[in-house]
This record gives sequence, structure tokens and C-alpha cells, in this order.
Amino acid sequence: MSTIEINVEAGWKEICAVEDIPVLGSRVVKAARGGDIAIFRNAENEIFALHDKCPHKQGPLSQGIVHGRQVTCPLHSWKIELKSGEAVAPDVGCTKSFEVKVEGGKVLLKV
Ligand code: FES
Repeated sequence: MSTIEINVEAGWKEICAVEDIPVLGSRVVKAARGGDIAIFRNAENEIFALHDKCPHKQGPLSQGIVHGRQVTCPLHSWKIELKSGEAVAPDVGCTKSFEVKVEGGKVLLKV
């Protein structure tokens, strides 16, 4: 995990290159408002963005384990869907997800 700082203005923000995010890992974007955003990369090089707070007790999802299209929270092992931010049943809860896209090998985040 490493950290990037951005200023929050509406629109797409270039964050980093896809290669800057470790496979099955994440980078954290420090937003001026609203809390940290974790950018994840899975084994298929898909990119996802969630608030870096587990819906259970605010565990740092950026330090969790990515598998498929889910991340397992490092604190109590809830599984969170990377696309929607929804907890996987039987757990219930949701963390905010953000739109991300890749253009020319660069990761863009919509804030
Ligand atoms: S804080 Fe994530 S599972 Fe408890």
C-alpha cells in the first residue's frame, strides 16, 4: 500500500499507472474531504475504488486481501464486493464505491 494525495474537485482525476498498483493489492488516495479512497487491482488487472473503511467497524480495506472481485477486511474477515462496496452475505453493510477507468495504462478516478 502506498499513498497518493489529490485535491477534490468534481470530475475524473488521473491517479497513477496501473502498474503502480500491486496485483492483488492497493494504493490509497488521500482526498481533501470525505476520507481515504482505496484503489484495488485484482489478478485480471481490473481496477476498483472504495472508501478505505469497512462497513463493519471501519477497518482499512486497503490492507485487506484481494481475491477475485472481492476484498477480505483485515480486521474481522468480512468480504466486500469491490465493484459495489456491498458486504457479502451473511454480513450486511456497504461502503461507498467510486467510478474508475483505465485509459492508456493510467488509472482515472471520478471524484
Ligand atoms: S472492520 Fe472489517 S470486518 Fe470488522
